[in-house]
Amino acid sequence: MTTIGNDHFPTGFLWGVATAAFQIEGAWKEDGKGPRLWDIFSHKPGKIRDGSNADIACDHYHRWQSDLDLLQWLGVNAYRFSVSWPRVLPDGKGKPNQAGLDFYSRLVDGLLARGITPMVTLWHADHPQTLEARGGWANRDTIHAFAEYASLVFETFADRVKHWITLNEPNCFLYQGLGTGNIAPGISDWKICYQSIHNILVAHAAAVQCFRQSNQPGEIGITMSVDLWEPATLDPADIAAARYADIQNNWWLLDPLFLGHYSEAFYKNLGELAPRIESGDFELMSIPCDFLGVNYYWKNIVKAGSQNLGQAAKGEYTATGGSVYPNGLVEVLQNIYQRYGRQVIYITENGLYEQDTPPIDGLCDDPNRVQFLKDHTQALAEAIRQGIDLRGYFVWSLMDNFEWSEGYIPRLGLYYTDYTTFQRIPKRSALWYRDFLFRHSKP
Ligand code: FCB
Repeated sequence: MTTIGNDHFPTGFLWGVATAAFQIEGAWKEDGKGPRLWDIFSHKPGKIRDGSNADIACDHYHRWQSDLDLLQWLGVNAYRFSVSWPRVLPDGKGKPNQAGLDFYSRLVDGLLARGITPMVTLWHADHPQTLEARGGWANRDTIHAFAEYASLVFETFADRVKHWITLNEPNCFLYQGLGTGNIAPGISDWKICYQSIHNILVAHAAAVQCFRQSNQPGEIGITMSVDLWEPATLDPADIAAARYADIQNNWWLLDPLFLGHYSEAFYKNLGELAPRIESGDFELMSIPCDFLGVNYYWKNIVKAGSQNLGQAAKGEYTATGGSVYPNGLVEVLQNIYQRYGRQVIYITENGLYEQDTPPIDGLCDDPNRVQFLKDHTQALAEAIRQGIDLRGYFVWSLMDNFEWSEGYIPRLGLYYTDYTTFQRIPKRSALWYRDFLFRHSKP
């Protein structure tokens, strides 16, 4: 246990930053990479708020070495990144693309050489367009393709990578991609949405099973966005709406993994939108994971009929309308414990949406993010004090990057990305985190 002031963090705690392949890599059709669903979606007019795309993004594919130097400078002991499925299996299955595997191999070696532990996500909303064209997650063949992809990645990297995440936020990406339809693939069909959610959870379990069968040392889990959903008033209609949103967004996807079944009341409520479940699915889905990855950003205030009001806890609003509420981090972890008992937890993402002001003299002033990090690292310490088995924390993100359908408007990085020169310019929050890590991550 490291003790600094009143804060206690367990020895071996992973302190890191997180990124995702699509949001930073660029090189969208280089070295044999196949197109992904987001390449296609972002090229369609009107889909991305600022009319941009991620063809180049942060150009990390070519600048990965200096990006790893930034990690080293920050003093993180862990880095969470994702493998782009179409970069290593351009058609989703079949013949691997050696150049793609080599890229991630160099990245992993570069991290290890710098003393940084890799945590690898297999699917961060990034699958080949060939699979999407055949129905994507609504098609059960994609489950088998995912298992094949996972096995390939385990075979190639499990000698060096010991921390694995199967999926990132299937809740957010599938509700928005297939329900509301505002992000890729841009379909609005709730029947397809619920079926795809079911299938992707089976795919997660199939990947965990492959990992167990590989007999490789290490740990594997899933990352879900777990937010607070609170009623705007004590009006029973608001309370019911908040409860519905809480189950739909948080527990609908986690229950089958931890309890072995869906929430019954919610399932009945779905009526003909409910997914078709095949025999053996629940047995597979409840195969135990080693940890739960939690992405925590904000609190949602729910009013019947108009879901998210984004009422701020401290009068602060994030750029997308959620509200900053640091103690929510403790509350969501307690909620998870209440529902599923004691679990090993990593905070796999936490960060602030802002439209930062441009840098002056090589430094970007982002006082809100500094405050955000202070408050949330204190919340981590509080969660640990309350008995939560927390093993790591990853700030989203290393640098400003392509924020899905918001394009480059929100800036969430510790480094400011200049999208003309591709320079990464430190923000005050980067200096703060470096200083914090210097004080806290020593053995
Ligand atoms: C999360 C996503 C991540 C990033 C952050 C801001 O929902 O997992 O890719 O976009 O939000």
